[in-house]
This record gives sequence, C-alpha cells and structure tokens, in this order.
Amino acid sequence: MIIESILTTMDPAGKVNFAPMGVEWGDAEIVIKPFLETTTFRNLRETGAAVVNLTDDVMLFARGATSDVQFPAAPASVVRGVVLEAACSWREVEVRSMDATPPRARVVTTVVHRGVRREFLGFNRARHAVLEAAILATRTHLLPAEQIREEFARLQVIVDKTAGPRERDAMALLTEYVRSAPTAARAEQAAPR
Ligand SMILES: Cc1cc2nc3c(=O)[nH]c(=O)nc-3n(C[C@H](O)[C@H](O)[C@H](O)COP(=O)(O)O)c2cc1C
Repeated sequence: MIIESILTTMDPAGKVNFAPMGVEWGDAEIVIKPFLETTTFRNLRETGAAVVNLTDDVMLFARGATSDVQFPAAPASVVRGVVLEAACSWREVEVRSMDATPPRARVVTTVVHRGVRREFLGFNRARHAVLEAAILATRTHLLPAEQIREEFARLQVIVDKTAGPRERDAMALLTEYVRSAPTAARAEQAAPR
C-alpha cells in the first residue's frame, strides 16, 4: 500500500528538504521511490537517512507540490534529520539498499524509530481531493490542460461539500498554481521537438 507522506531529508551540509512522497508502507521496512532528479534522491544517496512524516494537514502537500518550502520542524530522535511540527506521527528510516535505475529510484529503508505527536482524525473527502489536486499540480507539464481543468472541477465539488477552511485554502492555492503553470501543450509550443 502507498501512503502519502511529507518526507524530510538532509544534505551533507545539514540543509533540510521537505517533499511530498508516496511511500510503500511496511511495519519494519518502507520503500521510497524518488525520481532521480529530485533533491530527495540526492540526499538519500548522500546521507542515507530520512523521516517519513504522516500528517492530516493537506496544506503541506499543496505547498510542497508547488514550491520549494521549509516547514517548522524539530530534530529527529535517532537519525540525522527532522520531524515536522505538523506531523501526527512519524517513522525515522535508514537506507538499506538502493536501485537507481532511471527514471525513478527504489530506495529500501529500515524503520529505526517511530513516534506519535497527536491524533490522526478519520477520513475527510476534501483532504483526499486536495491530495489528488496536489499530484495533478506536479504533472501540469505532462497532462493536457483540458484534463487538469476537468479533474480540478470535479475535485472542487468535493472540497465545497466537505472541507474546512484549511482544505479550502489549500485547494485555492493549487487552483491558482495550475492556472498559471505551463501545461503540456504550452510546454510543447515553447520547446518544439
Ligand atoms: C501526494 C504526492 C506524492 C508524491 N510522490 C512522489 C514520489 O513518490 N516520488 C517522487 O519523485 N515525487 C513524488 N511527488 C512529487 C514531488 O513531491 C515533487 O517532485 C517534489 O518537487 C520533489 O521534491 P525534491 O526535489 O524537493 O525532493 C509527489 C507529490 C505529491 C503531491
């Protein structure tokens, strides 16, 4: 099963990187699959550790998908890394093996520590809708603009019905982002093959 997390990693100099990542979940082992061009991949290769943060605050996914962000965080317990203040719970992991076949690495990690900060509330449809919208926002250069518009319209209905203010704001941020992002068609025009 894939669980959507905010993955924190550190570079050798100690700079923290925050990125939404869907990870293959296991109790003792978690598999991270970063594209080779990501900072996450470079950090995992160079420092061999990460923190898998689980949060119900979808604003972090919206902001992480649309910009290079820093969030409030505190030092992890066992690995060299940080735990999000907004985390409900987290896993600290160490890299065990890495297959860096392009385009996407497969990084097998061992869970070396886990912690809980606060309750994770039950399912909320708007939160899931925002997650889907965040993933679409990372694919504007790959998908036709019309498809993005249609999917956003469908997801907005769910947000309107079931969101709280945080989810509404996160959806608004993503909507604004995809409106101005280069689409697959526009990217093609800008750089014809
Ligand atoms: C919910 C969600 C899940 C994502 N999962 C992955 C993933 O598994 N692998 C990946 O390379 N990018 C994934 N992304 C896209 C990355 O978050 C995005 O490319 C990010 O810019 C990479 O960040 P980095 O260069 O800071 O590591 C995901 C995005 C979202 C919104």
